[in-house]
Amino acid sequence: MLLEQFEVGPYLNFTYIVAESEGGEGVVIDPSFQIEPVLEAIDRHGVKVRFILNTHSHPDHIAGNQDVRERTGAKVVAYRSAPLHQDVSVSDGEHVQSGRLRFQVVHTPGHTPDSVLYIFEGHVATGDTLFVGECGRTDLPGGDPSALYDSLLGRVAKLDDGLVVLPGHDYGTTPTSTIGREKRENYVLKPRTREEFLRFLQE
Ligand SMILES: [Fe+2]
Repeated sequence: MLLEQFEVGPYLNFTYIVAESEGGEGVVIDPSFQIEPVLEAIDRHGVKVRFILNTHSHPDHIAGNQDVRERTGAKVVAYRSAPLHQDVSVSDGEHVQSGRLRFQVVHTPGHTPDSVLYIFEGHVATGDTLFVGECGRTDLPGGDPSALYDSLLGRVAKLDDGLVVLPGHDYGTTPTSTIGREKRENYVLKPRTREEFLRFLQE
């Protein structure tokens, strides 16, 4: 598998290219600002980009959609309620198949109502649901602390410890992590009751 992480723009966003191989079919996850290096890498690796996978609808995660779409013909994939141009609308538990790669959709509302994870080949793209050592904020429109509790403690914390975490921003001590390490070290994944979690988020 080919996996390349790009840190782009003023908010330290991560955009990812994932492909089955050099010259193979693949996807771009969260095309952000300053997309030119990503487009160059797509050409350099000869990746046939079939899909753009958006983890949620915030502008810094979709800013490059149109450029990647025009250059590659890729279809935009997002959670069905996401307010953006979608070619393929997905729901919890569905899969997106690109060549030999299969991306499983896990709906994790909280940061936004349309936040999803994409799980593939031992990796999980977490968008702004989970960062290395932190989680996404819930004080923007559509943010929901109680939903984030269910997503983090009910879903993320139950994922396989070995999965490599690919976050939506470079906000941690390292650019990637694992679910096991985040469960040990990330204070947002500490076991808490809903009440404790809501209090914790307000602090
Ligand atoms: Fe966001």
